[in-house]
Amino acid sequence: MFAKKILCIGAGYVGGPTMAMIAMRCPHYKITVVDINDEKIARWNSNELPIYEPGLDEIVREVRGRNLFFSTDIEGEIRANDIIFVSVNTPTKTYGAGAGMAADLQYWEKTARQIRRCAQSNKVIIEKSTLPVRTALAMERILGAENNIHFEVLSNPEFLAEGSAIEDLQNPDRVLIGSRDTPTGVAARNELVDIFANWVPRERIITSNIWSSELSKLVANAFLAQRISSINAIASLCEKTEADVAEVARAVGLDSRIGTKFLNASVGFGGSCFKKDIMNLVYLCRSYGLNEAADYWEGVIKINECQKERFVLTMLRAMFNTLADKRICLFGFAFKANTGDTRESPAIYIARKLLEEQAVVVITDPKALENARRDLAGMKGEILFIDDPYEAAAASDALAVMTEWDLYKDLDFERIFDSMTKPAFIFDGRNILDRKKLFDMGFNIYAVGKPPMTHFA
Ligand code: UDX
Ligand code: UDX
Repeated sequence: MFAKKILCIGAGYVGGPTMAMIAMRCPHYKITVVDINDEKIARWNSNELPIYEPGLDEIVREVRGRNLFFSTDIEGEIRANDIIFVSVNTPTKTYGAGAGMAADLQYWEKTARQIRRCAQSNKVIIEKSTLPVRTALAMERILGAENNIHFEVLSNPEFLAEGSAIEDLQNPDRVLIGSRDTPTGVAARNELVDIFANWVPRERIITSNIWSSELSKLVANAFLAQRISSINAIASLCEKTEADVAEVARAVGLDSRIGTKFLNASVGFGGSCFKKDIMNLVYLCRSYGLNEAADYWEGVIKINECQKERFVLTMLRAMFNTLADKRICLFGFAFKANTGDTRESPAIYIARKLLEEQAVVVITDPKALENARRDLAGMKGEILFIDDPYEAAAASDALAVMTEWDLYKDLDFERIFDSMTKPAFIFDGRNILDRKKLFDMGFNIYAVGKPPMTHFA
């Protein structure tokens, strides 16, 4: 009764929302999502989904049990489906050759072998996870070995950003599909184009050769991260020269060739993708002997590390060169607003450094406290996790904004100021607060890429 049956292996931040969107937009398809993690699947089947993403709950409620199903029967579902998205994680390798740089492809390869073992009919395998360029070749070789079943490998990288995943899926700038230029490759590609064409305008569905598609994902993330590092490098110069980085970004971004997006100076970028994908790009360049290109992209990561370090040093210097026993409240722990995700969040680094300085660290975040607890487990020092931002801020010497949650803009800062130890400091790592207003209340304010405003002579 369903026109197509589609499987996705990997029920994470990418697989879950992407399949929910396909299910909603294509009620005539049956979509199944499997994962090796039973607990995660149980949560996808419950009222408390394993990830927080605005709009996701509503969609899952509408389609789950209708044409979207979550299951742990990976092998049975591989047999039952002929279109298989693979969205398992591909973290940075932590061991052996390429440790800290290359992508760890072990889950990817295990999944490929599992598909080959279970398949009883021809299948289209779609790379959704971000992979080094030319992974499809390895995939084809693994799938093709000792088998008379035909596997067609496509690349269909996901460009969604967390916090806006549903909007990005609903209305993508483009959908990219890479394939082999063979009759079976083109046929599989057309089948995937037809799936997206259920809701994405045809002109936004672009096709390319498979290697361009794999590489484009790494390059898109590298370019986005590069813009942030570029503006953060300028922020450090602004702090020395009384220029204001927001004013510079505005003036520069209004040049239509440059554009205004992704020019917000910050405490540094985080998230599961930027660092991992750039390191992967650097590793690829080095492995082809392209050392200048590798150094160039590595610079984007270096500036980001330096930005986080600078932030803590600014705090230390401003607070009279000692943070020992001072209570410092981090406003936000997620790597960006509207998500509970804390992977590579700059807040992890900042919290660790503050603990090393023997500060008491208080963490508040509307969605990320569970992850923050896990990230900081086992760290030496005093850490408190408090839901209510007023309670978290009370008796603190300083507030440091780590995440640009809207709720922090609208707090009653008079009340917060009254409850804090004096002199009271704010370090705005996201430039979301009204500096002038807070300064007038009595705060000493340090914002990224702006001259400090203090009450000291
Ligand atoms: C993943 C990749 O990490 C990333 O490179 C790519 O860009 C998109 O897909 P994400 O969805 O954020 O990103 O990862 P994660 O939330 O960790 O989800 C991956 C899921 O795959 C996990 O739920 C994990 O349990 C599952 N998995 C992993 C399997 O089902 N099988 C495996 O063999 C390994
Ligand atoms: C990113 C890409 O945007 C997305 O296309 C890709 O599929 C996955 O990686 P994501 O990591 O979810 O998405 O979030 P993004 O909005 O790109 O933000 C990444 C980090 O950069 C966050 O820590 C964010 O706060 C920071 N950032 C972003 C800045 O510091 N300044 C900016 O101007 C923009």
